[in-house]
Amino acid sequence: MTIPGYRSPDLQLAASPITPDRWAQMQEAALFGADDVAALRRSRPILEPSVDAILDVWYGFVGSKPFLLEQFTDRSTHQPDGDYLARVRARFGQWILDTAEARYDEGWLSWQIEIGRRHHRIGKNKTDGANSSALVPFSYLLPLAQPIVHTLRPFLERSGEGVDAVDAMHDAWRKSVLLQVTLWSFPYVVDGDF
Ligand code: HEM
Repeated sequence: MTIPGYRSPDLQLAASPITPDRWAQMQEAALFGADDVAALRRSRPILEPSVDAILDVWYGFVGSKPFLLEQFTDRSTHQPDGDYLARVRARFGQWILDTAEARYDEGWLSWQIEIGRRHHRIGKNKTDGANSSALVPFSYLLPLAQPIVHTLRPFLERSGEGVDAVDAMHDAWRKSVLLQVTLWSFPYVVDGDF
């Protein structure tokens, strides 16, 4: 299975409407700095062997909440679309590694807008030709950050590092997810108000 991600050569991404300056200010507002980038990168080799196990936990959570699973449910059959779930899962795995890699070039910034579009009605279902809900309602987008970040901790603890080091990685992940989901909100925000 190919993973259409931002490294995919056939993906044409529009330039990000969010300028690098604004992105830098967003990081500043979230107290996200060089220490966080370093902590994220330290988390990469720790999390990489556990990507599948992490996805099992996250998918288990989404699957246990009907209002979340609905976003992966086929509108004709009213059944979860297994193919859609599997294809998104593969990209989600790549996202874990991308988040831990923390390389914020212009391609990455454009890719964040694309991920936002894929949650919004502008782009949802298109990548996989799915026939699911028209959009992920905005009301669920930010709240899901909490279970995602919370359930990551046991995997960070597997490193055997001390509490301070685990805290640093966990804090960096929390900030990074907060910032990314804010970028993904772009298509949901009234024109000019982002
Ligand atoms: C912190 C919150 C969230 C994170 C970190 C997250 C992460 C992701 C990632 C990494 C992808 C794959 C993007 C790609 O490479 O194409 C994705 C897609 C998707 N997510 Fe989320 N997500 C969040 C919130 C939600 C919520 C609340 C739902 C509701 C169930 C949801 C449903 C979906 C769906 C349906 C897709 C596939 C969209 C498509 O391309 O058709 N996500 N998400």
